[in-house]
Amino acid sequence: MAAYEYEVHEYDVVVVGAGGAGLRATLGMAEQGLRTACVTKVFPTRSHTVAAQGGIAASLGNMGPDSWQWHMYDTVKGSDWLGDTDAMEYLAREAPKAVYELEHYGVPFSRTGDGKIYQRPFGGHTTEFGEGPPVQRTCAAADRTGHAILHTLYGQSLKQKAEFFIEYFAIDLLMSEDGRCQGVIAWKLDDGSLHVFAAKMVVLATGGYGRAYFSATSAHTCTGDGGGMVARAGLPLQDMEFVQFHPTGIYGAGCLITEGARGEGGYLTNAEGERFMERYAPTYKDLASRDVVSRCMTMEIREGRGVGAHGDHIHLNLSHLPPETLAERLPGISESARIFAGVDVTREPIPVLPTVHYNMGGIPTNYWGEVLDPTPDHPDRVTPGLMAVGEAGCASVHGANRLGSNSLIDLVVFGRAAAIRARKVVDPKSEVPTPNRASIDKALERFDGLRYANGTVATAELRLEMQKTMQADAAVFRTDKTLAEGCENMAGVASKMDDLKVTDRSLIWNSDLMETLELTNLMPNALATIVSAEARKESRGAHAHEDYPDRDDENWRKHSLSWVNGTDVTLAYRPVHLEPLTGQDAGGIDMKKIAPKARVY
Ligand code: FUM
Repeated sequence: MAAYEYEVHEYDVVVVGAGGAGLRATLGMAEQGLRTACVTKVFPTRSHTVAAQGGIAASLGNMGPDSWQWHMYDTVKGSDWLGDTDAMEYLAREAPKAVYELEHYGVPFSRTGDGKIYQRPFGGHTTEFGEGPPVQRTCAAADRTGHAILHTLYGQSLKQKAEFFIEYFAIDLLMSEDGRCQGVIAWKLDDGSLHVFAAKMVVLATGGYGRAYFSATSAHTCTGDGGGMVARAGLPLQDMEFVQFHPTGIYGAGCLITEGARGEGGYLTNAEGERFMERYAPTYKDLASRDVVSRCMTMEIREGRGVGAHGDHIHLNLSHLPPETLAERLPGISESARIFAGVDVTREPIPVLPTVHYNMGGIPTNYWGEVLDPTPDHPDRVTPGLMAVGEAGCASVHGANRLGSNSLIDLVVFGRAAAIRARKVVDPKSEVPTPNRASIDKALERFDGLRYANGTVATAELRLEMQKTMQADAAVFRTDKTLAEGCENMAGVASKMDDLKVTDRSLIWNSDLMETLELTNLMPNALATIVSAEARKESRGAHAHEDYPDRDDENWRKHSLSWVNGTDVTLAYRPVHLEPLTGQDAGGIDMKKIAPKARVY
């Protein structure tokens, strides 16, 4: 192995990733005086949160009656009863506080006539525990809400003197012999230097792994880096079989057209011009939960009612909306539709198709963001020194399916929760641990092995093979046959990791090596997804299994855990948390209201 030198940095907390969750955690940690570094592979305001459009859910009640209990009910139902009850209560309760904090930090929310934060309807968000009309709960900054939040949080983090290490690629976690996380090792992309960040707490905020699929709304940087590092550290991933397809990705390009478009009155039609959602979800129609809408669109296409020359997509209609609504509330997607579909939304429908959008699964955590290393006897055992927040983590608030606009609120509520917890568990006066030398050597050896990889398969070629396999075999609808084939195909794809060829040996702006490192992160995420999907013999949320069309609470209301080692995936399960944080007597949720039932919209 080549000789590598590295610089050592010491911090109380190191956050990896600078999207909404990473920045909210960074800001919260720095605000309370913890020496905080944020290590990020892209410039913070280029993180994927910048692409979040429609908004952030919180029961502010600015546009009509709302309550955190209704928000919690919708989240529980949206999750198809797989989310953890304590985490979902925490999310719904803390959401208004977290949004008002954002407002005070300076997020330029759209406003109502009387100056309140503007809120729009979004799929699956209702009133009266699902018995009343849709609620306007999604707080929006036009259709660029993520952009507004990201810029504000970055500015505030700088104000609090958080230190940023920008365009540093985190290679691996540094773990002690006894399983404590002691830091992370990173590669500085612009000068090739290596850096050990020793820390009392590492927070993984690395986002999702949408790019394991061929067509995704996620940025190309969404490569599941946190999940990859965790898998290599011998820790499990949770509920990976649940992959969300957003109903309205632009046909062909995959770019997101926000659900806010339907929230503002847009609707879907098939080749017959029919508003088909009225047939499937008579009450909430186009505003049913996204897994439901995606499945209905797929069924319309399968049954020969898709639009276009090949009958392979659906139309999203906005041209009936007043031009001023489009200009004021949906300027971003009007532009995206023009650029990526050649469509003028004031006159024509947008061609759309369900597109991979979000990973409900991820690194298992409790609702404070502490990473879990479950055993059969201790399903909630905490890994010391390690947290995960945002899409990288699985708290689990989204269970088997996430509601639109519950992602941005997840980022800020749990980024903030991680900081609140860190105040308790990180002692600013204690010594920063010296990372285990063996773990540094192991990471450098892996890095060197990839740098000089001299096999026969190019990284881009293998990545494409993985993406096409996942797209075909772990799709909106799944069967025993497609999933079994998917497991076999993915094992074949993953086995080629040992035969990779990297052509650029340099260390400066070596995108070949960086994409190879990213592929080593995508692969365990993809394997865990297909293997846990194959094992789950029921339909729940985003996991629509045609051979087992019903939800089976008796046998399957449990979280899956996947340990990935090379091409091997070992599965186990842990119980769903059924207890809320606060009982009804203490002003909490009435458990009868959120008891499992058929999920109809
Ligand atoms: O449709 C959207 O604007 C996406 C929002 C979300 O995924 O939460």
